[in-house]
Amino acid sequence: MEYHAVRWDDEGDMLVLLDQRELPSRVEHILCRDAECVARAIEGLAVRGAPAIGIAAAFGLVLGARGGGSELSAAARRLVSTRPTAVNLFWAIGRMLDRALAVPEGGDLKKDLLEEAKKILEEDIASNKTMGILGQALLPRRCSVLSHCNAGALATGGFGTALGVIRAAREQGKDVKVFIDETRPVLQGARLSSWELAEDGFDVTVICDSMAGALMRKGKIDAVIVGADRIASNGDVANKIGTYTLAVLAKEHCIPFYVAAPWSTFDTALASGEDIVIEERSGEEVRLLPGGQRIPDSVKVWNPAFDVTPAELVTAIISERGVFRAPFDLSDMSEKES
Ligand code: MRU
Repeated sequence: MEYHAVRWDDEGDMLVLLDQRELPSRVEHILCRDAECVARAIEGLAVRGAPAIGIAAAFGLVLGARGGGSELSAAARRLVSTRPTAVNLFWAIGRMLDRALAVPEGGDLKKDLLEEAKKILEEDIASNKTMGILGQALLPRRCSVLSHCNAGALATGGFGTALGVIRAAREQGKDVKVFIDETRPVLQGARLSSWELAEDGFDVTVICDSMAGALMRKGKIDAVIVGADRIASNGDVANKIGTYTLAVLAKEHCIPFYVAAPWSTFDTALASGEDIVIEERSGEEVRLLPGGQRIPDSVKVWNPAFDVTPAELVTAIISERGVFRAPFDLSDMSEKES
């Protein structure tokens, strides 16, 4: 895809974010010259998707470092507070702060941080490509795949995790049709995945979230592939709300359920998904209906942004370090690489 969710502009010395709230109607960019701009873009979902959030925050710290060490700490505190579930955010900020600590007395903090943020971006793209190659091997030569939310180029440095596996399958000459859940309430599937897949000439069909079961029952889905926001060491997976429902449906219909995620999404310090903090977003996202209608304010709404799929429903987890199958023990990776 020719668009970049997150791009550093060397000439302008600023971060350029594709404003995903406007897609697919308009391609607009946000030009960030300070960390606060990046933090607001993350909170408001202008930039979203676990890896892209981490990458944006890394560049946010480059912008935050302009005023030296104390401004950097304030920027880190602000960025860390933006979204709680995707571990990539905390991973990227931790990595950037480690790099800051390694800058020698009299060294160029901003230059070193910029180098590190660019590395994080490049490594993310490389990991997507590797997991694509590993993951595509799980797909038959001709298949229909169902995905949820957007775990594509827009959610990463480029290429994508779940959608990267699909891209890699096509690169291997496989004929892959894609079904994508619209993904209420923010419609990342309907607005973003369908757009980026159509841009790349895929055969893509959007369904309402409630249609997935009927589609599976008709025998139209060969595999489900989703991304992740945090994976615990027992293989429990936090991802966009509705993922758990899909996993249950996939099990009922004997369809493999795959999760694709870079190693930066694994939280091996967590024993299980029970301890994953699930972001609750404003009820307005649910209350506002397509077409401009509103659910009355007298009615309560519940709006968790993510759910946790228990490991027993996951057929395999695809990462750049290998494809892992149950029983998952991701705490000791060296033994599990394939
Ligand atoms: O709320 P979002 O749009 O940031 O949620 C995104 C997802 O849940 C993705 O599936 C996940 O971050 C993986 S993106 C490669």
